[in-house]
Amino acid sequence: VAIRREDYRAPAYWIDTVDLTFDLDPAKTRVLNRMRLRRNPEVAAEPLRLDGDELNLARVLVNGQGASFRMEADQLIIDNLPESFELEIFTTCAPAKNTKLMGLFVSEDTFFTQCEAEGFRRITYFLDRPDVMASYTVTIRANREAYPVLLSNGNLVEQGQLPEGRHFAKWVDPFRKPSYLFALVAGKLVAREQRIKARNGKDHLLQVYVRAGDLDKTEHAMNSLINSIAWDEARFGLPLDLERFMIVATSDFNMGAMENKGLNIFNTKYVLANQATATDADYSNIESVVGHEYFHNWSGDRVTCRDWFQLSLKEGLTVFRDQEFSQDLCAEPSARAVKRIEDVRVLRTAQFPEDAGPMAHPVRPDSYIEISNFYTVTIYEKGAEVVRMMQTLVGRKGFERGITLYFERHDGQAVTCDDFAQAIADANPESELARLLPQFKRWYSQAGTPRLSAHGVYDPVQRSYTLSFVQSCPPTPGQPFKEPFVIPVNLGLLSADGRELPLQLAGEDAPGAGTRTLVLTHAGEQFTFVNVEAEPVPSILRGFSAPVILDHDYGEAQLLTLLAHDTDPFNRWEAGQRLALRAAIQAIEGPAAGPAEAPLGEAYLDAMRSLLRDPQLDAAFKELVLTLPSETYIAEQLDVVDPQRVHAVREAMRVQLATGLFADWERVYEQHRETGPYNPDPHSAGRRALAGLALVYLCLAARSSGDAVWPGKTLQRFKDAGNMTDRFNALNALVSSGHALAAQALASFHAMFRNEALVIDKWFSLQAGAPDRGGDILPLVKQLMKHPDFSLKNPNRARSVIFSYCSANPGALHRPDAAGYVFWSERVMELDAINPQVAARLARALDRWSKLAEPYRSAAREAIMRVASKPDLSKDTHEVVTRALAA
Ligand code: ARG
Ligand code: ZN
Repeated sequence: VAIRREDYRAPAYWIDTVDLTFDLDPAKTRVLNRMRLRRNPEVAAEPLRLDGDELNLARVLVNGQGASFRMEADQLIIDNLPESFELEIFTTCAPAKNTKLMGLFVSEDTFFTQCEAEGFRRITYFLDRPDVMASYTVTIRANREAYPVLLSNGNLVEQGQLPEGRHFAKWVDPFRKPSYLFALVAGKLVAREQRIKARNGKDHLLQVYVRAGDLDKTEHAMNSLINSIAWDEARFGLPLDLERFMIVATSDFNMGAMENKGLNIFNTKYVLANQATATDADYSNIESVVGHEYFHNWSGDRVTCRDWFQLSLKEGLTVFRDQEFSQDLCAEPSARAVKRIEDVRVLRTAQFPEDAGPMAHPVRPDSYIEISNFYTVTIYEKGAEVVRMMQTLVGRKGFERGITLYFERHDGQAVTCDDFAQAIADANPESELARLLPQFKRWYSQAGTPRLSAHGVYDPVQRSYTLSFVQSCPPTPGQPFKEPFVIPVNLGLLSADGRELPLQLAGEDAPGAGTRTLVLTHAGEQFTFVNVEAEPVPSILRGFSAPVILDHDYGEAQLLTLLAHDTDPFNRWEAGQRLALRAAIQAIEGPAAGPAEAPLGEAYLDAMRSLLRDPQLDAAFKELVLTLPSETYIAEQLDVVDPQRVHAVREAMRVQLATGLFADWERVYEQHRETGPYNPDPHSAGRRALAGLALVYLCLAARSSGDAVWPGKTLQRFKDAGNMTDRFNALNALVSSGHALAAQALASFHAMFRNEALVIDKWFSLQAGAPDRGGDILPLVKQLMKHPDFSLKNPNRARSVIFSYCSANPGALHRPDAAGYVFWSERVMELDAINPQVAARLARALDRWSKLAEPYRSAAREAIMRVASKPDLSKDTHEVVTRALAA
């Protein structure tokens, strides 16, 4: 049954206080829930309906008296209630059997909770919706030896011993919160602690809790937390409002992390790092995710969502905030640009396909069957782009004013995306955002990626240049027609030899320098620039100022100019991507029988060579430019996709880059291989990334030439490496070039890190995600699933093998014999019985089936139908596969 946004109604009751007492036992945990409720006078009287899921109900008391109640599906219903009353509910649950990892569950003998979005109802009966906010008091009782640490939200107010080797802790959260922000942790944990003094002079205790052996991997998370606190206060004036702020890591977690008030619970992947076990990418992800969850303390916890359709209110805003945080931590402007390019790459390789596929939904969806399915790249990453466009339209200072007004207005409330946009506009009444607000909000209501085509005409007589824009947006499920969007287009003009030209629109008295923002609002419109000395090269959508697909009929020479000279690093990178993409598409669409031997032209290779040699450019930027668009991104540009052809062409391009630039790769590797003592800062990380890419190409070149020197050097590098990034990059170079030495390196890698779960995940993932050669990956994946270290129940491990193959390795998944799809369908069904959220994620791997060429298309459809027809399929997976089949 679909839940619809338009059906929202305020709750019939409010819950003011909740007093929970837990008697923890993995097999049978007892939960006593005492609440004070009152009728919501603004809603007509109706019975109280409490949500529950997989609970055993023992007792219901109203004002201390046994009360009559009834059950309707999973809801507990009580009639004839007074205006205000005390309600006591006693239930039990079985955390050890909770493989869904929602509600209260056990991971490695420790209790954890995950309540967002609807997990609290698996702990007790409740009005489990974000607009019901209550004050929580939590008492935890458990065996002292097995569970020495007992944590919940807020402040520890009491603790002590109990008979029979048990003890207790009592926590009071000073802030009202919705149930999805409740958390409890109990087990054998140790903490890194840090006391800090905030700007206002208040003391705070910061703690990062992990298992005993992992304390040496918590320094970076702690530093990231300290930086996050300082940043939110400096940039937005938002201070830490708690005496104690805790982060706890668990190795069994469906998602990345969770922002429970004062007690963030994290996947170990986003907490644990030291130089021996974590890569630069891990360090950078930890910084982002620690920041993200901390920033939720304001954008999520202090101001939350009225209903789950507003999820992007907190997620889009908080992703935007974590992106800005990571950028602001960069010392160099070039590092900021690198971060922006990385963020856009995620958006375009993951969100654009979602927006074009069967699961397409607006940033503020209109309906859902299972809310867990809507923790998507659209809600998160596109939502962040919508917030970013607001900042572009009101300016950085104006945006900060808007954020201040938003929190002044709505502190302590559960609000909507409209409330957010209104606050930003109201704080900037003269802005384009205020002027265009109703139209701007189409970004919240209309799904699909807008296409923007631009066409420029130079008039040598008038010395004018006219840029015409036409925007459109394809139909998406339930939305056949779209109205025009407000699209901020950051624009610059370059001369043919690469100089930045002044910009003067017709009618303006004087030229302005550099980039300016054109605000598009119509299906078609034109801008004429005057005093343009010669035909310019337009640099459109600088910094990726709007989440659109830009079509412009750039000539190769123009793209080469942008690649060599654009002052905007994003568009410089983008020009290189466009050149590569073009070559790929030409080769893919070329004579089908012909081998795709050399898709890249000499001009492209020359440009890449000089870029690699440019001493002014940052290594991190070079690494991005020299990395080809992914198979997924290339496939999105095609109407009909032959994944094997895409794979073959991209592999041929990689070989060309490897052999055509061989001498340069040798030099680049030698120049960048040393980065001094390990430091994950962007500059050193960039050097390691470029050296790593060089090794990949050197090993690939060696593969075609049969030369053994570079694979040998790479193996040596693998052995000598002083940090995980260098070691893993060397291993990756051997594995991805399919060299015989890879087996030896893989075996020694496993032996070295057999007790480091997160590193073993990398070991699995690298193999399952390796380039396919003649169908060799699927048998390997099946082999890996038989490995003693494999487990389907641990989401990280399942992802490292199954998702690395099904969701991240198109060249290996799409087999002419359909065996990849059969494998996929079996795993989806198997996982569905254990953990529906993870299964539904995996189910999305075939979202784009209807674009596939035959025989893939029919075979993929058949596999989806097999999943859809399974009896007892979860709501989660059911929603994904039925939407896929409707495409
Ligand atoms: N709010 C969390 C975050 O973005 C994610 C929680 C996701 N939970 C879920 N059941 N899908 O930081
Ligand atoms: Zn979030």
